[in-house]
Amino acid sequence: MRVILFSSQAYDRESFLGEPLPPGLELQFQPARLNLDTVALAEHHDVVCAFINDDLSAPVLEQLAAGGTRLIALRSAGYNHVDLPAAQRLGLTIVRVPAYSPHAVAEHAVALILALNRRLHRAYNRTRDGDFSLHGLTGFDLVGKTVGVVGTGQIGATFAKIMAGFGCRLLAYDPFPNPQVQALSADYVSLPELLAQAQIISLHCPLTADSKHLINARSLAQMQPGAMLINTGRGGLVETPALIEALKDGQLGYLGLDVYEEEAQLFFEDRSDLPLQDDVLARLLTFPNVIITAHQAFLTREALAAIAGTTLSNIAAWAEGQTQNRVEG
Ligand code: NAI
Repeated sequence: MRVILFSSQAYDRESFLGEPLPPGLELQFQPARLNLDTVALAEHHDVVCAFINDDLSAPVLEQLAAGGTRLIALRSAGYNHVDLPAAQRLGLTIVRVPAYSPHAVAEHAVALILALNRRLHRAYNRTRDGDFSLHGLTGFDLVGKTVGVVGTGQIGATFAKIMAGFGCRLLAYDPFPNPQVQALSADYVSLPELLAQAQIISLHCPLTADSKHLINARSLAQMQPGAMLINTGRGGLVETPALIEALKDGQLGYLGLDVYEEEAQLFFEDRSDLPLQDDVLARLLTFPNVIITAHQAFLTREALAAIAGTTLSNIAAWAEGQTQNRVEG
């Protein structure tokens, strides 16, 4: 059975080849992103293995189905980039990796909080430049601060547990409260209440029609002046241009992003030789109180091994007619 892995990087090759391969499976690692220009590369491959910025819209799915593909094995938990009704219509099965390491993402959110608060990004550059002054580096104690967790599934709950360890007070917003988070003495409140009370807000909900632009000019105005916003969920959860205005007038005191609404055209590639064409991202990068990482929250050894292991097992199960981790339309 032929499997093509789009958007594959050196670390994907290493992690997939580090797992026992099910018999009869032939893996082709393809660095290109899947889209209408590259879809022909998938011809005669039974399985297309895709990542978060691959294009799985109806026109691409139609060409995949016409070329003989029958299974789309996502190397991600999120599936907001897949046109599920089109996949169903075309008889394409979609499987995913529902959980690989909630710790990887939650710990990255905490890394962003600590770096922003203690201004490690500025201190790193300063000392390398021979500047050992401390002005502008004042942080705050995390103990006793109120942290708002939006989305308390696997990642949000793991994040909440870590922040409870710092001695933070926890507020949570999720249509389905999680008993593990309630056990941490977190209070489930409405989103406006969370925004109004939390000094740090971290987004851990999926991107859906309901959650698109959950953070916008109005919700930013509801936050405490100088609040910190962390987004390791999906770029579309936040209306990005509104962030610029909130940063300019100080309403937003700190911003940590691992995801960006327009990341598909940029992230996972070395573009350091090229002029940055995205003016919104370029403006965000000028603020000293903003840290942007290029969708790396998942990138730990443990998470990569789990993604490879579950993906190979999803493919093997499907080949035996026992589909697991299926995404339903
Ligand atoms: P999960 O399915 O375990 O939890 C999601 C939670 O969000 C659920 O409890 C759900 O009830 C809640 N939710 C749904 N809609 C909501 C809304 N409008 N407002 C508030 N809560 C809402 O998912 P998990 O594994 O915790 O992942 C969360 C998200 O993190 C994923 O959907 C994905 O977008 C993102 N992610 C980011 C990664 C990165 O590398 N930056 C890696 C993995 C996931």
